[in-house]
Formats: sequence, C-alpha cells, structure tokens
Amino acid sequence: MTRTSASAHILCVVGARPNFMKIAPIMRALAAAHGLTASLVHTGQHYDAAMKHAFFEQLHIPEPDVDLEVGSGSHAEQTAQIMLRFEPVLDERRPDAVLVVGDVNSTVACALVAVKKGIPVIHVESGLRSGDRSMPEEINRILTDQLSNLLFTTEAAAADNLAREGISYDKVHFAGNVMIDTLFYNLAGAKPAAATLGSAGQAGWAAHYGLLTLHRPANVDDPATLKRLLETLVEISRETPLAFPVHPRTRARIEAAGLAGLLETGRFALLPPQGYLEMLGLMRYAALVLTDSGGIQEETTALGVPCVTLRDSTERPITVSEGTNTVVGSDREAILATVAAIRAGEGKAGRQPALWDGRAAERIVATIAEWCGVARAA
Ligand code: UD1
Repeated sequence: MTRTSASAHILCVVGARPNFMKIAPIMRALAAAHGLTASLVHTGQHYDAAMKHAFFEQLHIPEPDVDLEVGSGSHAEQTAQIMLRFEPVLDERRPDAVLVVGDVNSTVACALVAVKKGIPVIHVESGLRSGDRSMPEEINRILTDQLSNLLFTTEAAAADNLAREGISYDKVHFAGNVMIDTLFYNLAGAKPAAATLGSAGQAGWAAHYGLLTLHRPANVDDPATLKRLLETLVEISRETPLAFPVHPRTRARIEAAGLAGLLETGRFALLPPQGYLEMLGLMRYAALVLTDSGGIQEETTALGVPCVTLRDSTERPITVSEGTNTVVGSDREAILATVAAIRAGEGKAGRQPALWDGRAAERIVATIAEWCGVARAA
C-alpha cells in the first residue's frame, strides 16, 4: 500500500464463533495504535446468544458498528447474502482496508466484495491447508488467500503453502497466533470445570473427565458416520466421562438421525454451546480432548492437553509435529488406541510453537501501520 496520510481506517469483519476469539486481540491492538482507526462488521452468520453474545461480552469485543444479520442458509445463500449486504457498508464507510480472519463463509464473502471494489484485503490466519477440498473451509482459505494483499500466518508451513499457490513472499508475514493471544489473555479468568459440569448435574466428574466437540459436516451430516462415532464415544465415556457442549448443527443431526437414545447409554454431560471462559476451563483441566474443531487443536497444544482429532487431516500440522495433537479420523480402533495411550500416560506433552506467545495481534497491527504508511517514526 502506498498511502502516506496521517490515519487509516481498517474495517474488520467477523461472522462465526471461531472468528470472535481471533478478532478480540486485534481490535484491542488497533484501538491502542497510533494512526489507525477500526470499525467492526458482524455478518450475523452466527446469531444465537450462546453462539455470539456470550463471546462479545466475555472477550470485551466492542459491539459491532454494523450487523448484517444474514443468519443461516445454504452455502450459496449465506455467501450471497453476506456479499449483497456488505457492499453498501463499504460504499458508505470507505475503509482503507478490510481485515478478515479465519476460514468461514463470512471471511471469503467479504474479501471478495472488498477486492472487487479496489479495497485491499488483510487476511489473518492465512496459508493453512488441510489438502481436503471437500471441506468448505478449505475452499474459503484458498480463495481468501488469493484475494488478499497482506497475509499473516500462524505457523511456518503456511508460507510454503502460499508460495506453492503463487502468492509472493513479500505479502506474507509470520505473526503468530491471535487465537492463542486470546487464550493467554483470558486464562486466569477461565471458569472452573466443576461449575460447568455442575450445570449438567455432574460436578463430581471434575476430577477425571474428557471434553468432546463435534460439528463438522463430514462427521455429523451422514447418519451412519455419526452413529459409528457416537458408539465409540459411548465406549470411551464409560471410563472417562465426557463433557459435550453440543453445537446447534450437531443437536439437529442427532435428533434427525434418532440417536439421542444412544447418547443416554454413555456418561455424557450434555451442555448447550458454551462461552469462551467455560470452554477454556473445560479444556484446561480435561484428561483428554476429542474434537473436530480447528481452533481447539491449537488451544490444546497451547495448554499442553492431549488432543484426539476426529478428522482425517489437519490444516494445522504444527499441532501434531510440535503440539499435543493426534489426528485419528473416525475409525473406532484408531480412536480407542489413541485414547488408551493417553490414559496410560503416553499422551503427547508437546511444546509451545514459535510466536504463540500472546503478542501476535501487536505484531500484526504494527505491520499494518507500516504497510499503510502511518507508522510513527517515534
Ligand atoms: C461454521 C463454519 C465453521 C466453523 C463453525 C463454528 C463455515 C463454512 N463454517 O460452521 O468453519 O468451525 O462455524 O461453529 O463458515 N445455527 C444456530 N445458531 C447460530 C448459528 C447456526 O442454530 O447462531 C445452526 C443453524 O441450524 C445452521 C447451522 O447451525 O444452519 C450451521 O451454521 P453455519 O453457520 O452454516 O455453519 P457451522 O456449522 O456453524
């Protein structure tokens, strides 16, 4: 960017739950920066109190300047609605750049609108690749990176992925992980696991429990796969009871497939979607975490808690090579073998990846200020 005026306006976008913990430290760093002003647009992709408001409150994210209120829909509907509603916001506010985070539909939709209007796009958490194009997020990642002018990565492999796709190194900055900024910032305020388990009448499980999250279409949309996974999880829960905050998508799929009764045969603390501080408490003290989330693979690595990833691939390979993550897929034997190893004390201890130090947002904002030509010489 070649502007040299005294201040630049960065319009930031969030849409879905995992975006909220990524934007929180960025908004804080932008507010503290000289020469940068920030505004926040929420697309409304996630809208329930449990999926949105709890995060804004707990993470002290400023209320959005604009809420596009798009809600749910098919991928095409949701993406198209976001684009239609985002364009007039850019016309009115005329930001100097649009900053998007992560890999959800809101990320790619807003990046596409901005770039077509000649507004530079900043992508935080770029370059992650699972290699699995059947994941909607993988498509969102590839396209958003192609559209972006300034790209911030969380781990070294990301720059190689971007280079392979023809994105020049001079646009790419290794900044660290803003999700881990949020984790360290909030760790002292994490809610005790006993209180959260107690809300499902199972405070007594706090001494030994696992945490389970499940929401990927590949795991929950096909009734046969979902049944196989739940049967395996029932087996695990007999020895290690599982706290299970149930994503709205998963709740609907379990009900539609008639699998609620199966869950009753195991030891699950079935919880509504939890706030950030409740999740942090549940993760921190868990004996193990079973998940298909992307962010939780990173958070468990930062916390040193063994993580069993119920997917065939990960876009976050550093959580495997340096962290506590084991990618096992949805095969019963593989899951049970990994859980048995963790119970035997053979879980991965891991180490903190480079630049996962709580200061990624500061580095990102300093680079943005320089790029916008507003960095102070002082
Ligand atoms: C989205 C992201 C995914 C992310 C996940 C975290 C995409 C393609 N996917 O998936 O990467 O890991 O968020 O949660 O962007 N619903 C509610 N209340 C809400 C939001 C959704 O009930 O506040 C229900 C609706 O029935 C909706 C379904 O959840 O149809 C799925 O929501 P959607 O935003 O389409 O995708 P997620 O599965 O949440």
